[in-house]
Amino acid sequence: MTTNSNNASQLMDSLCALLEPSRVTWSSTDLEKYGKDWSKHIQPSPLAIVFPKTRDEVQQLVQWARHHRQPLVPSGGRTGLSGGATAARGEVVVSMEKMNHILDFNPIDQSVTVEPGVVTEALQNYVREQGFYFPVDFAARGSSQIGGNIATNAGGIKVLRYGLMRQWVAGLEVVTGQGELLQLNQGLIKNATGYDLRQLFIGSEGTLGLITQATLAVTRPPQDAMVLLFSVPELDGLMKLYQSFRSQLPLLAFEMFTDKALGYVLKGSGLTCPLQARSNFYVLMELEKVSSDVEDKAMDLFSSALEQGWIADGALAQSPQQAREFWRLREDITEATSFAEPYKNDISVRVSQVPEFLLEMDGVLNTHYPDFEVVWFGHIGDGNLHISILKPGSLSSQEFLDRCHRVDELLFSLIQKYEGSVSAEHGVGLVKKPHLQFSRSPAEIELMRQIKGLFDPDGILNPGKIFDSLT
Ligand code: MLT
Ligand code: ZN
Repeated sequence: MTTNSNNASQLMDSLCALLEPSRVTWSSTDLEKYGKDWSKHIQPSPLAIVFPKTRDEVQQLVQWARHHRQPLVPSGGRTGLSGGATAARGEVVVSMEKMNHILDFNPIDQSVTVEPGVVTEALQNYVREQGFYFPVDFAARGSSQIGGNIATNAGGIKVLRYGLMRQWVAGLEVVTGQGELLQLNQGLIKNATGYDLRQLFIGSEGTLGLITQATLAVTRPPQDAMVLLFSVPELDGLMKLYQSFRSQLPLLAFEMFTDKALGYVLKGSGLTCPLQARSNFYVLMELEKVSSDVEDKAMDLFSSALEQGWIADGALAQSPQQAREFWRLREDITEATSFAEPYKNDISVRVSQVPEFLLEMDGVLNTHYPDFEVVWFGHIGDGNLHISILKPGSLSSQEFLDRCHRVDELLFSLIQKYEGSVSAEHGVGLVKKPHLQFSRSPAEIELMRQIKGLFDPDGILNPGKIFDSLT
């Protein structure tokens, strides 16, 4: 949308009349900061940023936006990687950071009710203090917000054991694009009364409504964990190791990364690699010690993996501190490679197809990116791989993107062949929108458009994200 300066100043006046002026900003620093998420390649260009404090204010903002036909971009911790929270076309960004209260905890229902701007780690800590556990977890826990986690159906490092954000949302309050307030599922476990609209909003990337409150399920904390790190010489060994441990022990996480990824983390972090033998690949595994024999069984499987040649070395963290250091080797990859403006892919296939898919994908990457550094890592136990292609210093950002885009078709065609997903957990936003059709059929995309039209008939909520509307 283009807005001339007269219009813009009228819009600002009316926004300032709606909220306190201190909660409306259009300073260039704020526009740059709040106008984008962690995706690197889209220039932000929002009109203004607003900070509502209540559901009523959110409703008023939506009514205001309808009246002025002014698009809104809901915004959380802005840790997304697909431009879902990027305002690139003069939108007003609705930051939820002031709606950040934990409202209620109920130990009998095992649930916690929060506003959308609560930071993931703050919620995890609060729930732990109540003697419970909130299991949706990922490296961006210190900045990401619950509303964003719901809007993107966040995944992360414990999906293997606990599932996605979707599984933990017991109730949702949303303001639709028509300004209507909906209370969805109200924290119920059983509710067989027709369509579960709550689930429609989870993962909808702010295109259907703004989340103003959520009731989340919590669970008992896991038993003590064992954290192991393995070096794996060949691709083939990764899933053999997975199968062997998964079939016999309670896995909490099964993550992989390449030696290249490890090299970048070691370079900048002061961490050391605890393994004697470096290999092409590494697996970080977390097990729950549900019984006294888990440790012995794990050591048996470790020895047998060594004998089979699936692994070259392994280490068991000897203290919680060392376990955290093992995890940093995996979790710091994004930060350690961000200097190179990586072109990121976040893909998935069925777990049973991972070995075959990895081999084919390796071929595509080697053939088409012979001169680029490609860093692989991810939640391989969920069939989810992150592939970051690092920009060589010698190429301009545009030249680099053009080269990457030329390979997209090949990579995504391969994913389509395996009936996989072009975005496993990072969402579609703006970045993956051109590739949606590799994972979703025309009929599905059309139905999604029609659903958006029902909740947001004026097209004011995060327009142009996931798919383009026809109007
Ligand atoms: C991760 O698994 O570390 C995140 O999804 C972030 C990323 O892919 O860079
Ligand atoms: Zn991830």
